[in-house]
Amino acid sequence: LAMATVPARVPDMGKRQLMNLLLLGAISLPAAGALGPYLLFFVPPSSGGGGAGVVAKDAIGNDIIASAWLKSHPAGDRTLSQGLKGDPTYLVVEGDGTLAPYAINAVCTHLGCVVPWNAAENKFICPCHGSQYNNQGKVVRGPAPLSLALAHCDVDDGKVLLSPWPETDFRTGEAPWWA
Ligand code: FES
Repeated sequence: LAMATVPARVPDMGKRQLMNLLLLGAISLPAAGALGPYLLFFVPPSSGGGGAGVVAKDAIGNDIIASAWLKSHPAGDRTLSQGLKGDPTYLVVEGDGTLAPYAINAVCTHLGCVVPWNAAENKFICPCHGSQYNNQGKVVRGPAPLSLALAHCDVDDGKVLLSPWPETDFRTGEAPWWA
């Protein structure tokens, strides 16, 4: 009794095995086909070089003018703007009253709450599960696993321009997890 060729008349035991094989095939073939797109989902899209910047928007959606912003936001200030992909992003005013060359994405790396700035503590403290980040957004207490993402912050034609930060994270010396 060879299983390699299916005899015209299959004994009961052989028939059951054959049915199992056919059933398995019927299930696994479409499953394998469906797995393709599923796996592709996890392949990161190629990061385009450069990447366009956006003009930071204030709370009511107006373009942020650097000089006006600095008049109303003193040294040490961290205030939310609308940044890349619409993400809430802190503009940072340095100790000397100039705009920092980096901005801090406010989305907590734990589960995505927007992390408020706590000036008294000189930290960003997440209200959801207590993660803390220093005044540059570097994680100093979990459960957040990673520092807050960075964006470049420049002044272009008087307006505050935010653009992607694909370089090394200057706070950790590591490759940026968000790029
Ligand atoms: Fe911020 Fe959990 S979402 S600590």
